[in-house]
Amino acid sequence: MRLVVLNDNVPAEGLLNDWGWSVLVEGKHRFLFDADTRGEILLHNAEALGVSLKGLDFAVLSHWHYDHYGGFSTIAELNPGLELYAPPGGNIRGLNIAEMHEAGRIADGVWTSGALDGFEQAVGVETPSGLVVIVGCSHPGPDRLTEAVLEVSGYKRAHLVIGGFHYPSRAVLDRLAKMSEFIAPAHCSGEKAKAYVRREYPEKFVSVKTGSTIEL
Ligand SMILES: [Fe+2]
Repeated sequence: MRLVVLNDNVPAEGLLNDWGWSVLVEGKHRFLFDADTRGEILLHNAEALGVSLKGLDFAVLSHWHYDHYGGFSTIAELNPGLELYAPPGGNIRGLNIAEMHEAGRIADGVWTSGALDGFEQAVGVETPSGLVVIVGCSHPGPDRLTEAVLEVSGYKRAHLVIGGFHYPSRAVLDRLAKMSEFIAPAHCSGEKAKAYVRREYPEKFVSVKTGSTIEL
């Protein structure tokens, strides 16, 4: 089981890049979490990384901001009628939107936090290493999203929390550190947050950029 970061704000040689976030989850289910800003970046990077964006089981959108849903029209062309679990408030032609409100189970071993503040969700994925929490931009706070995922999934702690943390305070990162064995600040987390986790929790810090693959 692994996570493939198709695009992060941090570039990598040989891959296209912009401001956005998209992670392919390959495990019991193959699904896309967020779809970056531009479909052509996803297509290029997926090919360069040797993964397919066809034949997905479903997709998840964290929240309706363009740097997370911009590439979904391309995903719809490759996977017509694919189920997209999304917070209320948007639509993508060619995808079947399942509006998520409350916390719950999306698929076997995959849970949603529900749309916190009616706006943004995170998912929890069961892996051989434990529960992995994937967040988008964490407008409601990565700590609140992780708490919600832990509660609905029944896990006491996460193995990894990965995604955009939205320029969190130190207190938020300290809370997150108590909830997870590893922390991968990415996308909109900000350099200060990355530096803080790297310095205060070196044993937990996981560095992520475009093209990173995390084996679980
Ligand atoms: Fe974002």
